[in-house]
Amino acid sequence: MWKFTNPIRHEIPPTTWPSADEANQSLLFSPIRIGSLTAVSRTWVPAMVPWRATDDGFVTKENLDWYQRFAKGKPGVLVVEATGVRDIPSGPLLRIGDDRFIPGLRQLVDVVNEESDGETLLFIQIIDFLAVKRRPERDKYFDRFLNVDRRLREAVAAHFGDQDWLDKPESAIRESLKRASDDELDRLLNERQIEALRFGYRERVTDTDLPHVKHLPEELPEIFAAAAVRAREAGFHGVELHYAHAYTMAGFLSALNDRADGYGGPRENRVRLPLEVYGAVRQRVGDNYVVGVRFLADEVIAGGNRLEDAQYFAVEFAKAGFDFLSLSKGGKFEDAHQPKVGQAVYPYTGQSGYECMPTVLSDEIGPFGRTVPLVAAIKRNVNSAGFNTPIVATGGITTFTQAEEILRRGDADIVGMARQALADPDWFMKVKIGRGDEVRRCTYTNYCEALDQAHRPVTCKLWDRVDLDEPDAATVDEGRRRLLAPEWRR
Ligand SMILES: Cc1cc2nc3c(=O)[nH]c(=O)nc-3n(C[C@H](O)[C@H](O)[C@H](O)COP(=O)(O)O)c2cc1C
Ligand code: SF4
Repeated sequence: MWKFTNPIRHEIPPTTWPSADEANQSLLFSPIRIGSLTAVSRTWVPAMVPWRATDDGFVTKENLDWYQRFAKGKPGVLVVEATGVRDIPSGPLLRIGDDRFIPGLRQLVDVVNEESDGETLLFIQIIDFLAVKRRPERDKYFDRFLNVDRRLREAVAAHFGDQDWLDKPESAIRESLKRASDDELDRLLNERQIEALRFGYRERVTDTDLPHVKHLPEELPEIFAAAAVRAREAGFHGVELHYAHAYTMAGFLSALNDRADGYGGPRENRVRLPLEVYGAVRQRVGDNYVVGVRFLADEVIAGGNRLEDAQYFAVEFAKAGFDFLSLSKGGKFEDAHQPKVGQAVYPYTGQSGYECMPTVLSDEIGPFGRTVPLVAAIKRNVNSAGFNTPIVATGGITTFTQAEEILRRGDADIVGMARQALADPDWFMKVKIGRGDEVRRCTYTNYCEALDQAHRPVTCKLWDRVDLDEPDAATVDEGRRRLLAPEWRR
């Protein structure tokens, strides 16, 4: 994980909690309209991948229990993890790329509706991503993956000062590269080949030489639209289009997107496909279905989008008719750390990753609500353009006071808590009924994120070793970790 050079260790903010009456009169626990629906409060659990689906992308009992546990706390909105829109293998991540996924997703909807007594709105985040391969063993890369093209032959010939290399068998080139030093490779391979060798091969939306990448603008609108229709059929109250972090749609929005086909370059071109995807979704699900978007207030990478880009996109999204705008920050591949051999690059290891899930080892600003000023600036733009699309702020929000102040200042309309909700899914209920002092406070040290990085079932260090001998506690790692937060014994 990326660290500041001289990090300052912050304490989690001390707080006092409201009485039930105070909570009742708060903005946080007041309803808000989201599209055609009303959330009972302005509390929101953003998408979090828990690594509990089957390898084929189906909902498991562990998924059902996981979301049921969140529903017990009755947040205003619960967003189901990033769920793949395509019908392609993607490991134990949920998928919605075919009708066969609908029955499992419908069960998920049912358990959440039942557990929350219908109080929690349930949205599902839908995502497309491009190929990311694991970092290969060095020799394997040269034997199997490297494409020996004319440019490479010329580089090798120039390096050895011998034109014979232009016509030598491929195997000879591969063997000579295997013996080359890192410095020599830096000179011989191009940037993408170096990346494929040292980080693992990764596609970008700008790889228009690849037909499937070139044709994304023709294909994605229908793929997202079909997924959204399935979400509606499964009973979700709405969909959240995932335009954030390291994935395809964020790639189109990114200032690094210089596609020359009208979908890259200036902002109005970069937002074109995201709007076309929205248009296709809206057309298929109808005006009354909730369709929102998650995107980045700042990409936090060199040459990437900054606040001004996000302000522009936010107004375009509001104008197009999105029912909510949920802001995140960072989480990109471009500055990610080099993975170990056999592992895939993880987009939350660089500075942009830090900004996505900030920890208590921080700069002087600290991790608590550090994205809120950006969200506030985005909201000002949206509102002054004449739209009142609800805006969700997330990132290091942990106390009632913090949340209420954000809403009172008008910096956001809804407050998201991911890790705090993971640490204590009952946060919302406890605070609402005046028992906030029983909240299990997240320590923002990212044990959960490390599990996500390792593609292992996500749990929280504050509860996963507690009451392991409880007869019905579901566990992993040979009984060493429980999968769900213990029950709140009122
Ligand atoms: C384990 C884990 C999984 C996550 N998965 C997703 C995801 O699927 N989609 C998404 O948009 N954000 C994801 N996030 C980011 C969170 O939604 C949230 O933006 C981030 O944790 C910062 O909010 P917080 O400080 O309240 O935790 C994930 C975060 C964690 C800790
Ligand atoms: S493991 Fe628990 S306490 Fe630590 S950051 Fe994650 S949710 Fe918070």
